[in-house]
Amino acid sequence: MKNPMDNYVILISGRGSNMQALIDAKLPGTCVGVISNRPGAAGLAWAAERGVSTAVIDHKAFPSREAFDVALAEEIDRRGAELVLLAGFMRVLTEAFVQRFNGRLVNIHPSLLPAFPGLHTHETALKTGVRIHGCTVHFVTPALDCGPIVVQAAVPVLPDDDADQLAARVLAQEHLVYPQAARGILNGHCRLVDHRVVWDSDATPAGDALRVPVA
Ligand code: GRF
Repeated sequence: MKNPMDNYVILISGRGSNMQALIDAKLPGTCVGVISNRPGAAGLAWAAERGVSTAVIDHKAFPSREAFDVALAEEIDRRGAELVLLAGFMRVLTEAFVQRFNGRLVNIHPSLLPAFPGLHTHETALKTGVRIHGCTVHFVTPALDCGPIVVQAAVPVLPDDDADQLAARVLAQEHLVYPQAARGILNGHCRLVDHRVVWDSDATPAGDALRVPVA
């Protein structure tokens, strides 16, 4: 049976460990490209070594956010990508871009949204004193870090944690849940309906959705 979405593109800006987790997961369909807005993104070399087509669209080469987003969208469409996976892509996207890929644009954010949108989530979690932190995979909407949630994973915040230790604990969960979410969307078990995420009942990752590793 044909998958509802047959291929995907991954957008990165840096290290690309979530991109690696997605590619290593051997998702249904084909990764038709890894695109970075930063020429020096370390993840580009990793992808190229594995035979994945890469491209750089340097945002600094464009006069405006809108112009960059148009070029990015054209590159995604040229590759025929149906699903767009943001994996550490550090650019705020314009509303026009988000609308163009509505229902097939997904992001991973290192907090339990709606807590701590934006940057420096681990530092903020420590300052705030939350005892549980985590990550969220969500569909992207025009408002930053606030779209319908596909899956989340939680981790404990330990008394002696610094931001790096907490980030590492969260990142390990990111690498588990992002492929799980992408697989569900690609094979059609998870989709956006009336601004809400719907999982087929026999595919809902309920048991896995809240992963709380024992400290
Ligand atoms: C991840 O924590 C991701 O959630 C956030 O930026 C980080 C990117 O890491 N948006 P990587 O490039 O995937 O290693």
